[in-house]
Amino acid sequence: MRGVIALDGPSGTGKSTVARRLASALGSGYLDTGAMYRAVTLGVLRSGGDPAAVAASVVVTVGTDPADPTVLLDGVDVSAEIRGSEVTLAVSAVSAVPEVRQILVARQRAIIAAVVDSHGGIVVEGRDIGTAVAPDAELKVYLTASADARAQRRTRQDSAAGRQATLEETLADVQRRDDYDSSRAVSPLRQADDAVELDTTELDLDGVLASLLDLVDGRG
Ligand code: C5P
Repeated sequence: MRGVIALDGPSGTGKSTVARRLASALGSGYLDTGAMYRAVTLGVLRSGGDPAAVAASVVVTVGTDPADPTVLLDGVDVSAEIRGSEVTLAVSAVSAVPEVRQILVARQRAIIAAVVDSHGGIVVEGRDIGTAVAPDAELKVYLTASADARAQRRTRQDSAAGRQATLEETLADVQRRDDYDSSRAVSPLRQADDAVELDTTELDLDGVLASLLDLVDGRG
């Protein structure tokens, strides 16, 4: 689909930050699909309900403006709560439930179509964008980095946001989520056959953004 850029990969590759910066640079919209799984997980933790029923009943609204990626759960801003450790611990299990994925993927496709219509393009980040949500995306990039580099980045992000976790705890969480996300039955985390792999271990954010812009221009 013209105008759709799919950015997939495990956590800690700098995906969210570069996805927003890429969208701003291109004047495109932006969709953080992980935030949708996190918001549903928060709803499950609060209500104790069945994940599929929660996914069907809660209204998750994600900002598609890269400068304002606000996430609303039933109308209330939960952008900070969805990054907390309780949600991070539970999100992989909730996002492995097939009905949850079915519901959210349908919503993601509707958002993508609407934003391509209104903005001419969208950068979509997640785990299954190139393989399941938008297999016909114009450009697919799979971001990777060593587990150590990803844990270090996540630890820095967490402490900047006032969340305390040791490097060891974060590394264990990164590896646990990678294993869970890569081994689930429905649309596991994997590189699409036609995705370009970009290893960000040795790159800073400016370097990742420059590589992505080259790929968009067909120079990558
Ligand atoms: O990107 P983020 O780390 O916020 O994603 C949180 C979790 O949501 C991932 O660990 C994964 O379990 C799930 N997810 C997913 N499919 C996506 C995006 C995120 O299963 N497209």
